[in-house]
Amino acid sequence: MADNPTKGLADVVAASTALSDIDGKAGRLFYRGYDIHDLAGRTSFEETAHLLQHGTLPTRRQLADYGAELVQGRTLGALVEANIAEITEKQGPMEALRSMVSLAGAEDADKDSNEADANRRKAARLTAQQPTLVARYHAARTGATAREPDPSLSVAANFLLQITGRAPEQTEIDFFDECLVLHADHTMNASTFAARVCAATLSDMHSAIVAAIGTLKGPLHGGANEQVMRTLESIPSGGVAQAVRAKLAGGEKIMGFGHRVYKTEDPRATHLRKMSRELAEASGDDTYYRMSKEMEEVVLAEKGLFPNVDFYAATVYHYLGIPTDLFTAVFSVSRMAGWTAHVIEQHADNRLIRPDSEYIGERDQKWTPIDER
Ligand code: ACO
Repeated sequence: MADNPTKGLADVVAASTALSDIDGKAGRLFYRGYDIHDLAGRTSFEETAHLLQHGTLPTRRQLADYGAELVQGRTLGALVEANIAEITEKQGPMEALRSMVSLAGAEDADKDSNEADANRRKAARLTAQQPTLVARYHAARTGATAREPDPSLSVAANFLLQITGRAPEQTEIDFFDECLVLHADHTMNASTFAARVCAATLSDMHSAIVAAIGTLKGPLHGGANEQVMRTLESIPSGGVAQAVRAKLAGGEKIMGFGHRVYKTEDPRATHLRKMSRELAEASGDDTYYRMSKEMEEVVLAEKGLFPNVDFYAATVYHYLGIPTDLFTAVFSVSRMAGWTAHVIEQHADNRLIRPDSEYIGERDQKWTPIDER
């Protein structure tokens, strides 16, 4: 039987959205009509989250109000606090985040409402809380005393401070902030789709976000950034071409390459490559950057594939001092802005998402009693 042409829902329009748009042939990405190249490096993560969740780039006044809402939302609830140590002990970062968001839902003041204002308040709290959850997870497993979020710092600055334990330099804050902007939304990617499917049953925002976190975790989606770093760490710096060719010859996928929608360079990779190069130079050891460049050239030559967002994000996070196993969790810190905006959008004009399937099993089977089978 011929393969289903829509296997993996390729090219299927699964939802209407005013949040983000991709031109896969031209390699362009827009958030609410703004080109990502105009936003990256010029718009903060807080402004971007406001754009997605509230519909407009904020005025100074709106940004101050939204920023205050985010600062307030950084504090964790009693239920999460009571369970964080045990969750950390028993679960990896993404599972722990899934569990903690689920617990946070149980004590959210708006948990029983899907109404737009309640959803926007929850969106701000979830966006504010996610970096705290990652930082607290990291503190719990390293035995460090959890550093309280600093209300005077941006999401990016606060997160780097909490994770690395040192005051980040301005360039590091700016670059990490740009990373958060670049990862904030991306049309109907797998985790966003999962969130929308859940929300479309009129389930609540926290349930939808739990579905999204579980979906982001996989190596074909957000989990790829961690795998990119593991690949770089596992091959000798002088043996990149040989290692990549051997993987390809063995039918292995090279993590951080290829994309369902982009047929050319992912516009986010352009920014991340530049950041990776600059951070590598500043660090005094550009080995992983040089290896990445070589890997990019070999994969393009051998398979015609371009790096996706996860490829250079890996070395950027590495140079920023973020532990490798937290890379996908960092992705979730940013994508929370988009996921929650999609849930708001889904609830505002809802219809159950229920696709069809193509039946490929046996037909007209003759039933027999159990003793005659
Ligand atoms: N390395 C080697 N070959 C690849 C790669 C890769 N990274 N990506 C695609 N291909 C090949 C496939 O083997 C397949 O070849 P074939 O036709 O000879 O069988 C062909 O290209 C099409 O690949 P699919 O997996 O069918 O493409 P799809 O659109 O379903 O998948 C995906 C896209 C999942 C991103 C894929 O390119 C991949 O697995 N990449 C590696 C994982 C990764 O980096 N994921 C992160 C994506 S970005 C994000 O989610 C944030």
